Amino acid sequence: MRTVLVTGGAGFVGSGFVALALSSRPDWRVVVLDALTYAGNLENLEGLDARFADRYRFVRGDVADGAAVGRLFAEEAPSAVVHFAAESHVDRSLLGPLDFVRTNVLGTATLLEAARGAWAPGGGRFLQVSTDEVYGALGETGRFTEETPLAPSSPYSASKAAADQLVLAYHRTFGLDTVVTRCCNNYGPRQFPEKLIPFLIARFVDGQTLPVYGKGENVRDWIHVDDHSRGVLLALEGGRAGQVYNLGARCERRNLDLVRGLARELASAAGGDPDRALSRVVFVKDRPGHDWRYALDPSKAERELGFRPEVPFDAGLRATVRWYLDHEPWWRRVQTGEYREFVRRTYEDAGAGGAPPAAAPRGRVGV
Ligand SMILES: NC(=O)c1ccc[n+]([C@@H]2O[C@H](COP(=O)([O-])OP(=O)(O)OC[C@H]3O[C@@H](n4cnc5c(N)ncnc54)[C@H](O)[C@@H]3O)[C@@H](O)[C@H]2O)c1
Repeated sequence: MRTVLVTGGAGFVGSGFVALALSSRPDWRVVVLDALTYAGNLENLEGLDARFADRYRFVRGDVADGAAVGRLFAEEAPSAVVHFAAESHVDRSLLGPLDFVRTNVLGTATLLEAARGAWAPGGGRFLQVSTDEVYGALGETGRFTEETPLAPSSPYSASKAAADQLVLAYHRTFGLDTVVTRCCNNYGPRQFPEKLIPFLIARFVDGQTLPVYGKGENVRDWIHVDDHSRGVLLALEGGRAGQVYNLGARCERRNLDLVRGLARELASAAGGDPDRALSRVVFVKDRPGHDWRYALDPSKAERELGFRPEVPFDAGLRATVRWYLDHEPWWRRVQTGEYREFVRRTYEDAGAGGAPPAAAPRGRVGV
């Protein structure tokens, strides 16, 4: 039995990875370390306790807390770390960059130090889950490869780039077995409703307009969250130490086309008129430093890891719309802050401290 420490496992991507790892790797014990910030939702991990009782443990803790991380390494002796935990929302990084530096940079360094202290050579692998945003923006043509120089635009992407560099430096300097994956924009179930797709679905259901930054010409490269998880698993098991792997599905969409497609899907799923749905798309002032275009070249992961995204975009988007429409209570509880109740009862009322509850911000566009 190997123990894998997954940080940020209560978030959107991490929770899917935890479920995939437990169900597909019967000889793994998965320990989740998550601070349960506003973005962490224990409902995302519901049922795992019962299904995988002796192979699953949830620990509430901060990746930047060296003492807590050290204790966990001593207790669990993990032979791999899959590091998802991050402050992940670009718009929030414009409002409060220091939280991003603390969690994304200091938190990664803290985990690397614990791994360096705990692992003899070959004793473990550290996988850093990163983003295509570290490469900055593209013009009309070209794709990011793993050799593209890092040129992050936002405090979020700058903090992820700094973390990636630390992870690679720990390999070069200390010989730590590290791998970095960089993925494009994810969509799918359980995404926090401040992010573009769930944000727009919630507004649609509430009869509101569907705002798009600028003229909606910005291009994003999309991948289903389950394909991201599969790519991370492949890189963990088959990636070469010290390497970076881009994970993408070769699926570029202009924001405006994405929003229009979403409006049409919503109208058809909810039995409404597609033209009326399209008339709700409105343009709002662009945000500062809004990257023009992202497009990832995933050839290396395809070639070396056998990475093949399985979810076609249109089918994935349709299923995602269906999931949010069928799980309205899930995102309503996030909007109202009720999803924090369990955290309050379990941790804060028990005197364990922790961050104050925070409901989802409303009225931001976020992609
Ligand atoms: N969502 C995407 O489109 C996408 C794309 C590429 C890469 N990524 C990367 O994947 C990772 C996960 O993204 P996500 O969308 O699931 O984010 P998320 O915001 O949904 O989840 C982040 C999780 O990390 C936890 N966390 C935050 N600060 C912490 C701390 N100090 N200590 C411990 N836990 C902490 C939160 O409680 C939450 O559960 C991030 O590293 C992100 O950069 C995401």
